Amino acid sequence: MSNGETGQPILAASAAMRPAEPANAATSPSPLMIDPFGRAVTYLRVSVTDRCDFRCVYCMAEDMTFLPKREVLSLEELDRLCTAFIEKGVRKLRLTGGEPLVRKNIMTLIRGLSRHLDSGLLEELTITTNGSQLARLANELYDAGVRRINVSLDTLDEQRFKAITRWGELGKVMDGIRAAKEAGLQIKINMVALKGVNEHEIIPMMEWCHANGHDLTLIETMPLGEIDGDRTDQYLPLSLVRSRLADRFTLTDIPYKTGGPARYSKVEETGGRIGFITPMTHNFCESCNRVRVTCTGQLYMCLGQDDMADLRAPLRASEGNELLSDAIDEAIGRKPKGHDFVIDRRTRQPAVSRHMSVTGG
Ligand code: GTP
Ligand code: 5AD
Ligand code: SF4
Repeated sequence: MSNGETGQPILAASAAMRPAEPANAATSPSPLMIDPFGRAVTYLRVSVTDRCDFRCVYCMAEDMTFLPKREVLSLEELDRLCTAFIEKGVRKLRLTGGEPLVRKNIMTLIRGLSRHLDSGLLEELTITTNGSQLARLANELYDAGVRRINVSLDTLDEQRFKAITRWGELGKVMDGIRAAKEAGLQIKINMVALKGVNEHEIIPMMEWCHANGHDLTLIETMPLGEIDGDRTDQYLPLSLVRSRLADRFTLTDIPYKTGGPARYSKVEETGGRIGFITPMTHNFCESCNRVRVTCTGQLYMCLGQDDMADLRAPLRASEGNELLSDAIDEAIGRKPKGHDFVIDRRTRQPAVSRHMSVTGG
């Protein structure tokens, strides 16, 4: 395990995570995936289930219809799919959802995939979770080689937590975060900045995160899928948040990189890190290194576009990976330059119709 000893993300220093640099040629058994814009695809996000035990207002409608189980890839198929990508140059694998930890026997998949950490092919195996199952699973995650997790937490106020997640319980998530820390997992808190909802909590959240040794990333809400409310009301540009923060704190830009889209600053007063994920105000597509697969095996080359490739058919068509590998290459060959997200009063339709929980962010 390359990052196990120090507990630090190895990806900061890893040339493999820098886009458009085929740095893994020596270790990779087959040619790397390079898209038409010269970007190397080294980060795979896999949504292992579209189901979730929460109903966050910016993510889902309350009465969601989920996929029938027969459509969903089995754990064995997910393992095969992830392994094929790893053999094609993926170095960072993130399991998402819905909520990945509500998928039955998910630890079997995670433990199985950890063999790629042992072999050195994979540099990071991680999850993005809502935290509801962490109290139960944190130790097992650590034992399986996971060292760093991202937990979605938009507020520290119990009532507001209920209002945002509809079905979530703050106490359970806080217990989960505590358990994860005790298990030795490094934690990054993801907070979607919502105008008039949690914007006044950004400073207290940052102070809480940093006092507890967690990184914080703020995220601009993205127009994905129909929700019950109006996104124009929720959208808060992080350029504004950052300038407000800079009135009270000294923010120093740092080159810290995790392989994800956040740009980080150090907060001198707290000694902690704050990241900004700004798909709306500052597009980071030029350095995109990732693709995502849904739990039905659809490969989305961009979070913000509808184009996708079905990998389930080639996966199921034969036991070998040749057809699958060809389908992946063909799809990477049409990875678009970027997304066209817009949130304003004139653009009432979401940029893409599928919900965030389908592609897992
Ligand atoms: P790190 O490994 O910690 O950098 O994680 P990450 O930021 O890559 O993953 P996470 O699951 O925590 O995602 C944080 C936010 O970034 C989510 O809201 C994602 O939807 C968003 N995000 C990740 N990749 C992309 C992308 O390619 N485009 C856009 N627009 N948003 C993305
Ligand atoms: N815009 C931005 N972030 C979102 N997330 C879910 N829906 C949206 C959206 N519409 C966040 C979650 C989680 C991450 C994977 O994506 O809070 O932290
Ligand atoms: Fe579930 Fe995450 Fe969507 Fe909230 S944002 S409903 S926790 S998938």
